[in-house]
Amino acid sequence: MQGVVICPGSGSGDDLDDIIAVDTLSEDQARDELARLAALLGDANRAYHSKDAPEISDADYDAMKQRNAAIEARFPALKRDDSPSEQVGATPSDGFAKVTHAVRMLSLGNAFDDEDITEFDTRIRKYLGLEAAAPLTYTAEPKIDGLSLSLRYEQGILVQAATRGDGSVGENVTANARTIDDIPERISEAPEVLEVRGEVYMSHADFEDLNARQGERGGKIFANPRNAAAGSLRQLDSTITRDRPLRFFAYAWGDLSAPLADTQKGAIDRLAKMGFSTNQLTALCDGPNEMLAHYREIEQKRATLGYDIDGVVYKVNDLALQGRLGFRSTTPRWAIAHKFPAELAWTRLEAIDIQVGRTGALSPVARLTPVTVGGVVVSNATLHNEDYIKGLDSKGNQIRGGKEIYVGDWVQVYRAGDVIPKVADVDLAKRPDGATPYEYPTICPECGSEAIREEGDAVRRCTGGLICPAQAVEKLKHFVSRAAFDIEGLGAKQVEQFYRDGWIAEPADIFTLRDRYGSGMQQLKNREGWGEKSATNLFEAIDEKRNIPFGRLLFALGIRHVGEAASNMIARVYGAWDEFTGAMDGAADFDGAEWERLLGIDGVGEVMARSLVTAFAQEHERAGIDRLTAHLNVEEVEQPDTEGSPVAGKTVVFTGSLEKMTRAEAKARAEALGAKVSGSVSAKTDLVVAGPGAGSKAKKAADLGVETIDEDGWLALIGDA
Ligand code: IVH
Repeated sequence: MQGVVICPGSGSGDDLDDIIAVDTLSEDQARDELARLAALLGDANRAYHSKDAPEISDADYDAMKQRNAAIEARFPALKRDDSPSEQVGATPSDGFAKVTHAVRMLSLGNAFDDEDITEFDTRIRKYLGLEAAAPLTYTAEPKIDGLSLSLRYEQGILVQAATRGDGSVGENVTANARTIDDIPERISEAPEVLEVRGEVYMSHADFEDLNARQGERGGKIFANPRNAAAGSLRQLDSTITRDRPLRFFAYAWGDLSAPLADTQKGAIDRLAKMGFSTNQLTALCDGPNEMLAHYREIEQKRATLGYDIDGVVYKVNDLALQGRLGFRSTTPRWAIAHKFPAELAWTRLEAIDIQVGRTGALSPVARLTPVTVGGVVVSNATLHNEDYIKGLDSKGNQIRGGKEIYVGDWVQVYRAGDVIPKVADVDLAKRPDGATPYEYPTICPECGSEAIREEGDAVRRCTGGLICPAQAVEKLKHFVSRAAFDIEGLGAKQVEQFYRDGWIAEPADIFTLRDRYGSGMQQLKNREGWGEKSATNLFEAIDEKRNIPFGRLLFALGIRHVGEAASNMIARVYGAWDEFTGAMDGAADFDGAEWERLLGIDGVGEVMARSLVTAFAQEHERAGIDRLTAHLNVEEVEQPDTEGSPVAGKTVVFTGSLEKMTRAEAKARAEALGAKVSGSVSAKTDLVVAGPGAGSKAKKAADLGVETIDEDGWLALIGDA
């Protein structure tokens, strides 16, 4: 463990020289320092827990807490009544009803290096009176970077969900928790009273999606998945939470009427059997060597997990031993969190470049003095949009305390897994003399067309359409991407080169490549990096994709707001391409039966519908689509044989627990009968099938007057009872 830790001052830019080593502090200095740390940590806690907007990095926070503990250890008499070492989290905010936890929700002690782990093991052995050679098993599992939640089940039914709050009193977020798919409404073979504890989190993919949607709507951009998860769970309106894809891992418990098992691992396995998601990377380790080996394995997998973790948690496996070890004031003796090195770093912002995307969006990219962030060298990071640079969200509210970012500034970079690194903060105390405010362009840097920002749009867009080379090439890259045409041998790099050399200007040109460059004067096989075999392979790969499913084609066109899931849904509804293009023509005035039919599709809102109809109505865009489809055989979507099906064409929502079939089975069966299965209840829902423990969805159905039946009613309806 480090003896001297770095502690940021009230500005975040103290130099190392300003920090006095704990063992040389005088008593007066120590008293002042403890007061300063209590204030700083109090502010940091409030920003993190109550406002979901951290103002300092986790690493700085940990460093301050460590320094506070080190000073208190040297001067125990100076320990303050409001000492930060006695506090977990922050007092709950006023918007939610309060819940007093039956069993306190505690925090974990932290470890930062290998030595801390051997010390942890030694401490425990000493406490228990175990010899160094006596067997002692621990569990080791990822520390999920989300927010903790306690779920109370009585007689197997979810009755309450509460956040940690200050550890004793949390917030009642039951309605919101019920919208999370990983949280069962009802569980079987559970003790009469069971409080399941775990972490609510958001995956990287869902986080990126959410921020993209927020950007389009002019909503708040979240700094990282943890803030997005916290902001989504702590919504007073649970319909907002329902639209946010939250997940939950169970890893502990609170109040219990009967023990779950004899061991930590046994208890977690039991929770998994009850239907909770538990982490697959949980391992049993015999002693520090195996614990550290598992730590390194998890650290290696970190970037590919798809969600943020910030360390590994070790717990004594034997629950009787956990009981003997007990707790210190805010942390258990039997567990410790081994933190990963910070994934934040400070560096200089050298320049801001503008990238123009497929839909013309101008995105600011930070060019940074290269810096290592969590083991990866980062030299570019996103700055989101024009307002973000100014320290504002799209509604004009301040973010980062309203601090504007200048070119030349000292900025903080955040990176997690494969999430695009972002500039998270700026240190105004370190602003150099030459730093300059950034002037956002109003002319597209790629094609010189005007770049305009429509009202309510957070993004400034190039109006050049396909005359803008950046838009054209991005559209082509999207066209050949994995979920679109996915042509083997034709990736982003090749498309860029072909575009630059004038071989491909639009998607249709891909399908005439063989005619133009398969023989004659200029041939693909003679290009640098190509040969006879690779050229033939490419032509064949292109030919293979002349037969293309409807949904893939629609997604490949890259129409704004029209994603993969919506494309497939639309394809299922219209079945055949010609039927669909005819319908788009019919909806061209945003009125009438075809327009209503489009809006009636689950998952298609007005914004998407307008974008779609406009794309097909604009002459040059439609001509490009028609030139492309002339080379294609667009496969029809096979409609399930739904003759006589009572639910064909109906939108059905399953909620609560089903006892005679799994959710997946119910969904597959309903779809085979021609129904659309949706995850949320809306005015477009025709039928809700509510099992025991159904909560907010059943209530919403009742409010909207949507027909609701139980599982037996459903089976009777589809003739399977
Ligand atoms: S066990 C008695 N296991 O980390 C303590 N906590 O820094 C029980 N966390 O408050 C907590 N992943 O919110 C535990 N696998 C895991 C965890 C985990 C994340 C969080 C939890 C806790 C915080 C402590």
